[in-house]
Amino acid sequence: MVKVCVLGASGGIGQPLSLLLKLNPYVSDLALYDISDITAGVAKDLSHINTNSDSEGYNKDEDFKNLLEGSELVIVTAGIPRKPGMTRDDLFKINAKIIQNLTVKYAKFAPVHCKLLIISNPVNSLIPVVIETLKINGRLNPSQVFGITMLDIIRSQTFLNDLLNDKKLRSGSITSKQFDKTLNLNNINVIGGHSAPTMVPILTNKNLIHQQDEIDALYKKIKFGGDEIVKAKNGKGSATLSMAYAGYFFANEILKKINCKGVNLNDCTPVNLPSFVYLPNLPNGKLLQALLNDYSGIHDLNLEYFSVPVVINPHTGNIKSLDISILQNRNALSESELKDIKAACVNLAKDIKTGEDFVKKNY
Ligand code: NAD
Ligand code: LMR
Repeated sequence: MVKVCVLGASGGIGQPLSLLLKLNPYVSDLALYDISDITAGVAKDLSHINTNSDSEGYNKDEDFKNLLEGSELVIVTAGIPRKPGMTRDDLFKINAKIIQNLTVKYAKFAPVHCKLLIISNPVNSLIPVVIETLKINGRLNPSQVFGITMLDIIRSQTFLNDLLNDKKLRSGSITSKQFDKTLNLNNINVIGGHSAPTMVPILTNKNLIHQQDEIDALYKKIKFGGDEIVKAKNGKGSATLSMAYAGYFFANEILKKINCKGVNLNDCTPVNLPSFVYLPNLPNGKLLQALLNDYSGIHDLNLEYFSVPVVINPHTGNIKSLDISILQNRNALSESELKDIKAACVNLAKDIKTGEDFVKKNY
């Protein structure tokens, strides 16, 4: 039974994420923080649910000690979302300050074993802000910091299944009643970063779709999945409910590991858990950096961050290792995927520098 904190808990993602966490049997304490004055009310609202956890709401700077003390997971959803016409990078100026401040609080008050999950955008530049801030505060443990790119995988699996179901429907092999959205969960992956120029969808089962135009359309839909929601919400927010689900899914995998401690194997089945992480010092991290240099064709590209599936340590809930098998098997990648990896590397290097430069200037 663990304590989980949500920072940004009164927002579009924060509220449904907190609701899902309130339903989680591994959570004993839910500590909610947001600058919004409805936060105590959000926690009170959740407290009327008869699950076995307490919920407490905070919204003042002096609350951070109580809020973070004893927590196992801190999930950050604080920050502004996109409006139509904006890129995720346009959020950086405002969100970097918010994330830097919250990271300082985490460094000061959270226990040393506490994991930090960052959902706020732009993930590609904010994780470097977090890592550089933790370095300055003498609190860096790269195996505890997760940039959440899980929504890209959830979306990809949904879009791929829709396409496959649709093809079967058109060929007459199934009826619409036989659509199954939960099929084929490991047939597609997404690596790189969390923005259209850095996201690299990879069809891991190349036997599924043969027509390049279909693959191109699928990859485009995945890369611009976020934009689709921003447009559909008419300027009043970006993905919140699907993101709350994706963030919860990721957090729950860590919670299961911490709680089963490798004993209850049914609860510990490996799943594809991607995360944007700081590579140096992580097992396979240096090897991945060398591979990325090769793929980019730029010898001295210093790419210290990338999103790949992570393997969680069943005892600590930290990152145990990185699954870099997709990148090790170059022959299994298509021409367009290789091109996307190269472009992702070059664009990520810029995004990472934005985050690192911000911390250099603002400390
Ligand atoms: P929102 O505006 O609905 O909620 C954000 C909340 O953060 C608000 O309640 C606000 O009061 C709070 N907040 C602002 N400053 C704060 C601070 N200093 N401390 C604590 N709380 C603070 O936005 P949202 O839709 O929930 O999105 C939140 C972030 O998540 C955005 O940056 C968005 O782009 C990002 N996002 C990321 C992904 C992903 O895949 N990683 C997906 C969707 C959205
Ligand atoms: C998403 O992918 O839905 C999020 O990053 C939100 C956004 O701005 O698109």
